[in-house]
Amino acid sequence: MATIEKVGVLGCGLMGSGIAQVSAQAGFDTVVREVSQEALDHGLAAVHKSLDRAVKKEKMTAEQRDEVLGRIHGTVEFEPLADRDIVVEAVVEDLSVKEQVFGKLDELCGDETIFASNTSSLTITEMASVTARPDRFVGLHFFNPVPVMALVEVVRTGFTSDETFDAAWGFAEAVGKRPIACRDNSGFIVNRLLVPYMLDAIRAYEEGIGSIEDIDQGMRLGCGYPMGPFTLGDFVGLDTLYKITEIMFDEYREKRFAPPPLLKRMVLAGQHGRKSGAGFYDYSTGEAVVSDFVKR
Ligand code: 3HC
Repeated sequence: MATIEKVGVLGCGLMGSGIAQVSAQAGFDTVVREVSQEALDHGLAAVHKSLDRAVKKEKMTAEQRDEVLGRIHGTVEFEPLADRDIVVEAVVEDLSVKEQVFGKLDELCGDETIFASNTSSLTITEMASVTARPDRFVGLHFFNPVPVMALVEVVRTGFTSDETFDAAWGFAEAVGKRPIACRDNSGFIVNRLLVPYMLDAIRAYEEGIGSIEDIDQGMRLGCGYPMGPFTLGDFVGLDTLYKITEIMFDEYREKRFAPPPLLKRMVLAGQHGRKSGAGFYDYSTGEAVVSDFVKR
């Protein structure tokens, strides 16, 4: 099985920063690449904050935190990814952007480097096809927040070699996650079930079945979910959720994957959820209250 020692992460946003963190926490030398210094600084600050929280809770010492941070090397160039054993891509959910970065990496990286995409809904096969290494290409789908969520979906295509699949599975375990095997269909296992549920919650609200708070409360208290569907949508990012729905609708052409009008309006209005300060809830007062935009 391919040995993984040096890890690359492409993108230092919500997911990329978390993947870089768990990789460095597991002892891997980790290079993380962003498009701009500003985006990189923002992502690395999130890693710092997350590790600080662990120090505060006495789950790690300040020295251990500094060791982890010392294993993360931020860059805005592609070249430092050239010698990596695996590169996990977590850039924006846009096929043309992903194909572009994988095309670039394919020229740069050694033949042995495994490429993995953290896409949540695009097909791995399509991305693998633009490279000269489709046998060394897998999906590695982490969940938000990456340091907390135990699951990683390991996705194989018709091209993926057993060796690549086993190495990716081993990497997921090495960073402390529980892998599950998925076929390369849009949404894999979790989003295939989760996305229609979240969209249905929006439709239920549009139909006047209940308030945002009551639908959230219903699923938390009635089903034991840690977050109701609207809180979760704000947490994932409504722009991301919208992109996922469009990709899944395009793949399956079924109504249950179609974005409801309210979701589209919110994304057009920049109401992207927690990261933008407001989504279904407004977070500007420090407390989540249903946003006026949604109520009007
Ligand atoms: N980094 C590190 N640790 C974090 C963290 C972060 N960003 N956020 C929370 N934590 C830790 C806390 O330190 C705490 O640790 P402890 O139990 O050891 O003390 C633990 O997580 C619980 O956090 P809190 O007490 O602050 O808050 P909650 O109990 O409300 O839990 C939550 C927060 C873990 C986010 C929980 O609400 C949850 O599990 N929510 C559902 C998340 C979910 O469904 N994620 C999947 C989204 S779908 C997805 O990612 C797929 C994509 O393709 C769309």
